[in-house]
Amino acid sequence: MSKQVNVDLNQDIFAALIANHEVQRDMCDRLEKETDLAKRKAIFAELKLELHAHAAAEERHLYMPVMQHDEGLDLSRHAITEHHEMDEMIETLEDGRVSADTWNETCAKLIDKVRHHLKEEENEFFGEAKKILDDDLQQRLGALYQVEHEEYEQAHADE
Ligand SMILES: [Fe+2]
Ligand SMILES: [Fe+2]
Repeated sequence: MSKQVNVDLNQDIFAALIANHEVQRDMCDRLEKETDLAKRKAIFAELKLELHAHAAAEERHLYMPVMQHDEGLDLSRHAITEHHEMDEMIETLEDGRVSADTWNETCAKLIDKVRHHLKEEENEFFGEAKKILDDDLQQRLGALYQVEHEEYEQAHADE
């Protein structure tokens, strides 16, 4: 049974991405301030789901179309490499064998990486991508991105 997916057709791909970036920033702030390890792990689980849903939908509906153009290759490679680096940190955080110290150190690194990545996307990559994708495509990709992001979250909510 599929749940309803909410799509705001006024959001182009960049508005939709930035709305989710704000959610990620808020989660990082909460995670950084929390000191209780069990509560930190619960906030991390929320952040993990959001990061995975976001990266999958962003790679398919922003970086793939941008990559079709020569001038979009470098920025797409750079961004996707950073997604992969975040995935590796997430894997460490999910490994039940790591000590609390290692967990907290890796968590701090992940928060730094997320903040760096969002800033670089918003300040550099999205501006370049706007020049590559025409307005109509930016609008359609916004809807596709939102559907994929929501469906991913619904499908993986229990992991
Ligand atoms: Fe990204
Ligand atoms: Fe992003």
